[in-house]
Amino acid sequence: MIVKSIELKNYRNYDSLLAEFAPGTNLIYGDNAQGKTNLLEAVFECATGSSHRGSRERELIRFDEEEAHIRLVLERGGVPSRIDLHLRKNKSRGVAIDGVPLQKISELLGRLNVIFFSPEDLRIIKNSPQERRRFLNIELCQLDALYTLRLVLYNKALEQRNALLKDPKDRKERAALLDVWDEKLSEYGEPILEDRAAFIRELGEIIRPIHRELTENKEDLALRYAPGADPGRMAEQLFLGRDQDIHFGSTSIGPHRDELEFYINGKDVKRFGSQGQQRTTALSLKLAEIELVKKKIHDTPVLLLDDVLSELDAGRQERLLAGLDKTQTLITCTGLDEFVSRSRGVDKKFRIVEGKIAEEKLYE
Ligand SMILES: Nc1ncnc2c1ncn2[C@@H]1O[C@H](COP(=O)(O)OP(=O)(O)OP(=O)(O)O)[C@@H](O)[C@H]1O
Ligand SMILES: [Mg+2]
Repeated sequence: MIVKSIELKNYRNYDSLLAEFAPGTNLIYGDNAQGKTNLLEAVFECATGSSHRGSRERELIRFDEEEAHIRLVLERGGVPSRIDLHLRKNKSRGVAIDGVPLQKISELLGRLNVIFFSPEDLRIIKNSPQERRRFLNIELCQLDALYTLRLVLYNKALEQRNALLKDPKDRKERAALLDVWDEKLSEYGEPILEDRAAFIRELGEIIRPIHRELTENKEDLALRYAPGADPGRMAEQLFLGRDQDIHFGSTSIGPHRDELEFYINGKDVKRFGSQGQQRTTALSLKLAEIELVKKKIHDTPVLLLDDVLSELDAGRQERLLAGLDKTQTLITCTGLDEFVSRSRGVDKKFRIVEGKIAEEKLYE
C-alpha cells in the first residue's frame, strides 16, 4: 500500500501543507526543528489513531489554534481511500473514512499499515519494559482489531482494580468487588497473553536468519516472551497475589507486566550485550517486523524512517534499505550527505523549512 498524499491544517508547526508522495523512496530533509518528525507523526496518526510520541491532543494542535485537520489519501490494491482526522482541544477526535464518520477510533486500525523507525527504537533493548510492550501493542493493534478492543477493556479494568486496591473499603465488600475485576482482567488479559506469545514466536523465527546475516553468522538471536501471568491461571494468580497487591496498591499479575527478552548465543542482550550488539539487535527487530507485517497483510506496509540512517553505519544502512524495493518509504534526515554514496534511488525529494514543504528536482 502507499500514501498518495497528506494534507495538514494547523497540525503542530504547520498552518497548511500538502505533500504528494511517490510510491518508492521519498526523501524529506531540512534543518532541526523544521517539522520533519511532525510530518511523519501525522502519517502515523492516520494509521494508529495516536501519536508515536504518545502526545496529547492539545499538543498536536498548532499553538493558539483550536483544532487541527489531517487528510491522508492512501492506495491499497489500486483502490484509493481517504482518512480524515479532526482534532479538537477539548473534545474527542473525529475520524472519517471516505467521508463516513467512524464510531470508534479503533475502527481505523488496519486500514493503513505503517512501521515507524526512529533513533529511539534503536534503544529499545535497554529502555524500560514498557517500551517493549508498546512495541508489541503498536504492531498487534494494527494487525488485529480484536486485540485492540481487549487491550482497551483490559486497561480500563486494570485502572478500576488498582483504584479499588487503594480504597480502604471494608474487607468483605472489597473482596466481592475484587472477585469481579479479577474475572474481567483474566477474561481480557489471557487472550492478550496468547496473542503476544504467538506474535513473538513468529517474530522469533523471522529474526533469527536476519540477525545471522547482519552479524556474518556470528550471532544466534532468540526472542523470549516472559509473560506477566500464566494463561489459564490468571484469575487464580490474581487471587493469590491479592493481599500483596492491596499492600502495594497496584496489580502485580497480568500482561501489563510482560517482558520481551533478547538472547544472543544464550546470553541476555540487555544485561550482557555491548552497545553495538544492542543496536544491531534493535535493527534486526525492525527488519523482522517489516517481514512479519508483509506476511500478515499480504501487502507492503509504509515505512517511516525518522532520522535513523545517520545512526547506522554504511553496511547497516544498506541492509535496511535493501529489499525495500516495493515498499514505500518516507525518510527524513538533516543533510543529504547520507545519500551521496548510496546506490538506491530516491524517487522524490522534499525540503522542509519552518513548516513549509517544497519538492525539489532530484538532480541539479
Ligand atoms: N502544537 C504545536 N504548535 C506549533 N509548533 C509546534 C507544536 N508542536 C511542536 N511544534 C514545533 O514544531 C517544530 C518542529 O518539530 P519537529 O520535531 O518536526 O522537527 P524536526 O524537523 O524533526 O527536527 P529534528 O531534526 O531536530 O528532529 C519544533 O520546533 C516544535 O517546537
Ligand atoms: Mg525530528
